[in-house]
Amino acid sequence: EYIVRNIVGEAVMGDPTLAAGLLRLHFHDCFVQVRDASVLLDSTPGSKAEKDALANKSLRGFEVIDKIKDTLEAQCPGVVTCADILALAARDAVLMVGGPYYDVPQGRRDGRRSVDTDTLTALPSPFLNASALITLFGTHGFNVQDMVALSGGHTLGVAHCPSFTPRLKFEASTLDAGFASSLAATCSKGGDSASATFDRTSTAFDGVYFKELQQRRGLLSSDQTLYESPETQRLVNMFAMNQGYFFYAFTQGMGKMGQIDLKEGDRGEVRKSCRVVNKPSW
Ligand code: HEM
Repeated sequence: EYIVRNIVGEAVMGDPTLAAGLLRLHFHDCFVQVRDASVLLDSTPGSKAEKDALANKSLRGFEVIDKIKDTLEAQCPGVVTCADILALAARDAVLMVGGPYYDVPQGRRDGRRSVDTDTLTALPSPFLNASALITLFGTHGFNVQDMVALSGGHTLGVAHCPSFTPRLKFEASTLDAGFASSLAATCSKGGDSASATFDRTSTAFDGVYFKELQQRRGLLSSDQTLYESPETQRLVNMFAMNQGYFFYAFTQGMGKMGQIDLKEGDRGEVRKSCRVVNKPSW
């Protein structure tokens, strides 16, 4: 844990936006199959991996994970899985930028399957409404509070224009006009590769994301819907008012995330490199 924390600390100090990348990598790993580091595997000539799916195009932070793995393999070969490294790195990154600490249960094994199409139904689209988000998260055992608190992960980082331009066109009634015109300007200047931050303090883990939802400055449809829907508005208001309560609920949610759909007897390996499955030993 000390090695992971040092390398994450160095990386996030050099580039504070990497905290967002590491947190998102862990979330996308957990939601596709289980927490098995499938998101870290590279595509092979015969098979396109999860990381090359459209929904994962902007994932980042892979080099930080590689560096941690290399260092750990030099220190204690064959012991720490990529799945655990990813969960610890996400936790430490959140902590580094002002978020809460939580325990990460270790011992999860690395999987051998990573297929791009597995992401299609597993990962939430930014155009889902609150009911659809509640249903999707519910299938993994999250309650409504978990889902809203975990969406607060968007207190960090950015989204690219294709993720939010439909909102600019169709959701004027739930979108602050000044915010809309600044987003429109960003996207018309920079095109699809331009990005905008989720909240004004995008490298600090705090409750500002929820305050901005109240001001109709949510970036994605799936963010703003949390304030617009009667099912979730109360939680947004609570998290906006009380950052400590958001932190508490977030740690509860992350605890469940690490255990997603885990079944007795799930097997796996300790990968030598996080990008490739181990060669069979026979
Ligand atoms: C509730 C459903 C969610 C949806 C629909 C969603 C969707 C998205 C989208 C579309 C992006 C931007 C992709 C791009 O345009 O490049 C994004 C970024 C991000 N998401 Fe989510 N997400 C969800 C939940 C979560 C959760 C649960 C977490 C973590 C706890 C999370 C953490 C992040 C972070 C940190 C970023 C910024 C990444 C960066 O700056 O590199 N998201 N998400």
